Amino acid sequence: MILKTIGRILGLLLIAVLIAVIYNAIQERRYRAHMPLAEVISPGEDAAMADAIAMALRMINRTRDGLTEDGVEGLSTPAGDGKTTTPPIEEGPVVYRRDVHIKTHGCVKARFTVPELEGRYRWGVFREPGSFDAWIRYSNGDYVLHPDKTRDARGMAVKLMGVEGEKLLGWQRDAKTQDFVMMNSPNYFIRHLDDYVELTKYLAVQDNFGYFLNGWSWNPFTWRWRELRLVMGTKKPPPETPLMTQYFSASAYALGPDQYIKFSARPAQCRDPQGEPVDTRDGGWATPKSDYNFLRLRMGEQLAAGPACFDFMVQTQVLGKPMPVEDATIVWREKDSPFVPVAHIEIPAQTFDTAEQNRYCEDLSFNPWHSLADHRPVGVFNRVRKALYEEVHKYRWASNQQQYGDGDAVTLAPGQPAEPDSWCIDGREGDCAP
Ligand code: HEM
Repeated sequence: MILKTIGRILGLLLIAVLIAVIYNAIQERRYRAHMPLAEVISPGEDAAMADAIAMALRMINRTRDGLTEDGVEGLSTPAGDGKTTTPPIEEGPVVYRRDVHIKTHGCVKARFTVPELEGRYRWGVFREPGSFDAWIRYSNGDYVLHPDKTRDARGMAVKLMGVEGEKLLGWQRDAKTQDFVMMNSPNYFIRHLDDYVELTKYLAVQDNFGYFLNGWSWNPFTWRWRELRLVMGTKKPPPETPLMTQYFSASAYALGPDQYIKFSARPAQCRDPQGEPVDTRDGGWATPKSDYNFLRLRMGEQLAAGPACFDFMVQTQVLGKPMPVEDATIVWREKDSPFVPVAHIEIPAQTFDTAEQNRYCEDLSFNPWHSLADHRPVGVFNRVRKALYEEVHKYRWASNQQQYGDGDAVTLAPGQPAEPDSWCIDGREGDCAP
């Protein structure tokens, strides 16, 4: 009798869930039929943005409390598990981390080379053929530290150096950098700004599902099914190394005054100056995936053995196709507009995992708005990111007594803040900062 009743309740619940999923799918079709493709700025954004910043700072403080209680190394490297590992931060009072993407795998030096391009791509840093030195930070996406084998989004944030021209952030108008911020999913999981603020209210108390289940409601019609499906999609199993997965901007950007794009970095064959393929390490790792920091350690193995490369690509918006700029949850289909390589990234063989460089890396700030107007970020979440990344960075910078400038490294280098050209890539000649 009891079993029958439980069976009936479960059956009813299942039917309710199915109806809720179908209902959501119909709503989605209606939405897509009328969604705008151009930029649309809503009046309530400023207020929601203030809430988003307040919640982000709360999340940082929450992480800080954890790090302070357990000790910086205590959280990043579980004591006594017998696994070899390098703590991400080996020294200094760095307890105010980013509010998301808090776990760093490493900051590496790279070279970003732009070939001669077709006219429509020749804007901003792609205008002329040439090369930029760059810093790239690899990270896990989560707002807590966890073992690298945990499903998560992974981040790749690129900072080009020596980029001339006025930048979009007022206080960094003269900075000589250009950032490109990516993760290894082609879409974000939230559509509306209010939803983001709602989500962070739950995350700030470390409740991962409260937002999706509408405050743990019993009514599946109020659950956020689409967002739940999309967030599960961004939580991917770990790649073999941070250099062996494709990264995407997910949100849209301008490329020049009258076209929109998304961008992506895809692992590519490294070549020598004669164009011959160069041997790169892609297996036989000494570090097992069970190691707490295996992504950092394997990236070290990979770059000790040789270089790693990416193609940096853009996908241009085609009007009339489902390619909105306001809604970063919608993947622009490659059959409507393929990604086209516009630059090649080479990460030369190097040692990056030193205490000094790790500390420098933590101080760096990557922000889509560290940018030339030709690469202006667009869409509601990019607008929010402008104030949010800036506030988060200023807060952790001030709180951590950071050592290296304002975090938008123009001429500073690990261990040698006074040397203007000290961030040159080892072994290269003639391509250093002025
Ligand atoms: C839509 C696509 C997005 C991508 C590809 C992305 C990617 C990233 C990456 C890679 C980082 C780490 C940057 C670093 O290495 O310093 C980062 C940091 C961060 N992200 Fe995002 N993100 C996205 C959207 C968002 C949104 C919508 C928000 C909030 C509204 C957000 C909030 C943040 C914050 C606060 C940080 C920390 C910034 C810092 O401390 O310097 N992100 N994001």
